[in-house]
Formats: sequence, structure tokens, C-alpha cells
Amino acid sequence: MKAKRTVITFGDMRVGKDSDRSKRTPTVRKVKSAIVPVDRIKVPGAGRPRVETGGSAVADLGAPTAVRPTLAEQAALDKIDLSVDLAPEHGGLMLANPIMVASGTFGYGVEYDEVVDVQRLGAICCKGTTLRPRAGNPPPRVTETPGGMLNSIGLQNPGVDAVIEKYGPLWQGWKVPVIVNIAGESIEDYVEVARRLDGVPGVAGIELNISCPNVGKGGLQFAIDRDAARAVTAAVRRATDLPLLVKLSPNVADVRPIAKAIEEAGADAITAINTLSGLAVSADRTRAFLGNTYGGLSGPAIKPVALRVVYEVAQVVSIPIVGIGGVTSLADVLDFMACGAVAVQVGTAIFADPELPVRLGDELRAECLARGLSSCAPLVGTALPKRAGAPSAKGAEYRP
Ligand SMILES: Cc1cc2nc3c(=O)[nH]c(=O)nc-3n(C[C@H](O)[C@H](O)[C@H](O)COP(=O)(O)O)c2cc1C
Repeated sequence: MKAKRTVITFGDMRVGKDSDRSKRTPTVRKVKSAIVPVDRIKVPGAGRPRVETGGSAVADLGAPTAVRPTLAEQAALDKIDLSVDLAPEHGGLMLANPIMVASGTFGYGVEYDEVVDVQRLGAICCKGTTLRPRAGNPPPRVTETPGGMLNSIGLQNPGVDAVIEKYGPLWQGWKVPVIVNIAGESIEDYVEVARRLDGVPGVAGIELNISCPNVGKGGLQFAIDRDAARAVTAAVRRATDLPLLVKLSPNVADVRPIAKAIEEAGADAITAINTLSGLAVSADRTRAFLGNTYGGLSGPAIKPVALRVVYEVAQVVSIPIVGIGGVTSLADVLDFMACGAVAVQVGTAIFADPELPVRLGDELRAECLARGLSSCAPLVGTALPKRAGAPSAKGAEYRP
């Protein structure tokens, strides 16, 4: 397989060596992709055999060949409405299509501008942004795992003021909405970052990363404490009129009460999921491998967990849900939509294939055409039960 151009945007990735923290400029490297990209646009009826997969996508058989749509097919594709509103109750956050890029995996969007047509994305969730600059965690910060990766970047970022100054004017000229992912260690931190972003041209919305330690509660993560999740969402809601997305952590016994609290506190949408807490061991087995001991697991390995969370949350909230976790193909997008997500974010897969998110938008459009749909709305929630079922917290998978 051909090596792809990959933009590394999250600081030092060197394994087992001291890093030079002064080198913050994104680097472009050639890496060998672990994720095999699919062909560009699959036009319905293009003549290849098709088969139903375990999921809801129609998979092609045989060697992939890129197929260009005819003018008539392109006209039919252009008529399909992929738009989605992530803040219907709060002035609207309209995306031209439901394929977004996940925070921490696409920098500030600018780094990818020459590699990918970023304006064709549904939205960009930029790198986690805090009130003050952060140098991030000690190295090593990432390691590969079967079907994914562990990272402990530690929210390396230049701070909200520098982000506004450097990227705001660029984002202002962009068609693609930019959602700023924010993080903090106290409610006051989150509120202040949100306040500074409020009204900044080019900032289309805020995504709260609540998987951060709450210093006021002995370091307990906001995301695993229903009252803290409710309180931080409500406080940020009061501080800004920007569309507000809140990102769930999978590292809880029962995610549903937390999702409900976030909805009640005024979030416009829920994004799910952040990484799963994990650990790797050093080669000589004398210590944990990552400089920060723990890391966040992402990539295809976490997709079933993410699907389960979206499926459960979709049964208890009525605000839009954005599914995230291990998306690498159209089948993954369709699976998340079937479980109730109106949009998806692509994260780890971007490191191997930066063009994937844009291509998935094209593939989703072609899939709608193949199914005779004028929009992707009918794909949402098709796998949900008619009545809310037992949650996984009740040990449903072991019930006789
Ligand atoms: C290197 C890296 C950095 C990340 N940084 C952030 C971040 O700053 N804020 C956040 O909310 N999520 C962050 N995430 C989590 C992703 O946005 C996403 O929720 C997660 O990786 C699952 O999606 P995936 O399996 O498609 O990667 C990061 C993930 C990775 C791999």
C-alpha cells in the first residue's frame, strides 16, 4: 500500500526518548497507513457485485476501482440533502454534511488546509483549548495498540487568547464551521474560556471536553460525576450564546443519567465518546510505558463501546447526538447513525488517511442515492428499540 502524507499535530510522538518541547510546529511525515482507504465515490449501479455486511452498509466485492459519476449522476448526488442542525433549539448550528473531525486529531484545521479540502467537511472540532497555555504531558505520549492507539498528550495548547488571535481571523473566512473544544480544571476555567470565545467571528460553537479533573472535587473528572457534569454545562450555558456540545466519557458505569443531566443543563448536543482510560507497559516491564502512566484509548477497538453509549443515550435524550469512536469507513458512519447519531466525528483514522472524512461525506451521499433517499435523516435511529431497553449497566449481556 502506498504511504500517505500525514500531518502530525499533537506535539512530540517520539517513543521512549526525551522530547524537545520547543518544537511545536506540526510536521508532515510519510507513514504507512494501517487503515486501508476505500475508493473515492461509489456510484450506485457502477457494476461491481455488492453484499450486505454485518452492519448496515452495502460492501463492494472485488478490487476497488475509482468511479467518476456521470453528469446526470452528479446532478442526482447534488440534490441529496446531507445537512444537519446540531443546535436546533438555540439558533442553529448547521453543518453541510454530518462528517466532522474529532478534537485533537485535526489540529486547528489550518495544518490540513493544503492536504485536504477542509471546506468540504461537516465541521472541525479543534484541539482542546484551555484558559492558559499548556505544555502537555511528559513523553512518551502515544503508543500503538491492536486496533487503535493510546495517547496522553495532556492538552498541549497555546491557551485561548492565542488561539483566538492566531486562528480566529482564518476561521472567519471559512465556510466550514469550527467548533472550539474547551477544557479546564474548574467550572470557572471553562466559563472564562467560553466567555472569551463568545462572539469571536469564526467560532461556530463550543464542545466541552469534560473528561478533565475537577480540582474542586479532589480531581474527580467532571464527566464521571453527574452533578459536576450538570454544573459545568449549566455554567457555560449561562456564559455564552454559542451552540454548546458536551462530550461524554465512556469511563462510567451508567452514562444515561449523566447525559440527561447535561441535556437538562442546556446543552444543544451531546458528543460521544471521548477515549477510554488505558495503560501500556514498558518493554522491560518495570513501569508503565506512557510518561503520564495512563492514556486514552481510541481507534477501531473502541467502536463497539462508542456504539453502545450512543445507543443508550439516544434512548434517554432528545437533543442531537454526535457519534465518535473508531470510525474508519462508511459502514461505521451508518452504524452510528442507526444507533441514533445525527452526525459522526472521525479521529484516529485521520492520522493514517487525512482525506478519509471528506471521502466519507461523498460516500454517504452516494449511499443515500443508492437507497433512493433525498436526505440522510431516515438513516438515523433505525437500530433503536421501539421502547427503551435495559441499559448495559444492568449487566444485560450476561442475563440468561
Ligand atoms: C491524539 C489525540 C488527542 C485528542 N485530544 C482531544 C482533546 O483535546 N479534546 C477532546 O475532547 N478529545 C480529544 N481526543 C479524543 C478524540 O476527539 C475522540 O473522542 C477519540 O479519539 C475517539 O475517536 P477515534 O476513535 O475516532 O479517535 C483526542 C484523541 C487523540 C487520539
